[in-house]
Amino acid sequence: MNPIRLLLLGAPGSGKGTQTSRLLASFQHLESVSSGDLLRQQIQRKTELGRIAAAYISDGRLLPDAFVTELVHNELSTKGWLSPKSSWLLDGFPRTVTQAKSLRSKLTPHKASLNMVVELDVPESVILDRIENRYVHVPSGRIYNLTYNPPKVDGLDDLTGEPLTKRPDDTAEVFGKRLDSYRQTVTPLKKFYADIGILHKVSGETSDIIFPQLLDIIQKKLKHV
Ligand code: AP5
Repeated sequence: MNPIRLLLLGAPGSGKGTQTSRLLASFQHLESVSSGDLLRQQIQRKTELGRIAAAYISDGRLLPDAFVTELVHNELSTKGWLSPKSSWLLDGFPRTVTQAKSLRSKLTPHKASLNMVVELDVPESVILDRIENRYVHVPSGRIYNLTYNPPKVDGLDDLTGEPLTKRPDDTAEVFGKRLDSYRQTVTPLKKFYADIGILHKVSGETSDIIFPQLLDIIQKKLKHV
C-alpha cells in the first residue's frame, strides 16, 4: 500500500482542520501537523517565536517564509517523518511557492515527497458564517463550531475540560485580510503542484459532500502502484 503524504489547501475557514480530524479518525496510522496550530502553541507558551507570530497573525498577514519553514521542518524531523514509508498530513504549510520549494528540497533526499495535494473549494459566503462561530482548544488544535459541532459543555474542550478560546484573527476585519492573502498566494501554489501532477480539488458546502470526495482521492492513491 502506498503511504499517504497529503497537503490540504483551502481558504481560511474552508475546513482544513475539520477534515484533518475526520481523516485522522479514519486512518489509524496517519498523523498531522498544522502550521497555524504550531504557531498558536508558541504564542500560548509566550516564546520569542510566539511573540513574533502573534504580531503577524493578529494582523492577518502571512509570516516570513523562512520563519515558518524552519518551524515546520523541525517538527517533521522531530516526528521522524523523513522516511519513505511515513504517512502524514499537512494543514496550512506550504502556503507559498517558496515554502513549497523548500519542503520539496527537504523531503526529496529522503524519498518522502508529498504525493497528494487537495484543495478544499468552499464558497466564501459559507466560510464567513462559520468563522463567527468558531472556538478552539489551542493545546490540541481541536476545533468547535457553536452551530455545526458545539462542545458538550459550553466553553470547554470535550476531552480535557480546559477552556476554549476565540482566535484573535477571527474578526471580520482580520478575516478579510486573511482571505486576501490566500487569494494572492494560492494560484501560483496550485500551479506548482499541478505541474508535478499531484493537485486535486474537492468542492462543496458541507462535510457530507466534501469528506467522501476526499476519501475517494486518498483510497485511489493508497491502491495505486
Ligand atoms: P491557520 O491556522 O492555518 O488558518 P487558516 O488557513 O486561515 O485556516 P483556518 O484555521 O482559519 O481554517 P480551516 O480551513 O482549518 O477551517 P476549520 O476546520 O477551523 O493560519 C493562521 C495564521 O497563521 C495565518 O493567517 C498566518 O498568519 C499564519 N500562518 C499559518 N501557516 C502559515 C504559513 N505556512 N506561512 C505563513 N504564515 C502562516 O473550520 C472553520 C470553522 O468552520 C470551524 O468552526 C468548523 O467547526 C466549521 N466547519 C468546518 N467544516 C464545516 C462544515 N462542513 N459544516 C459546517 N461547519 C464547518
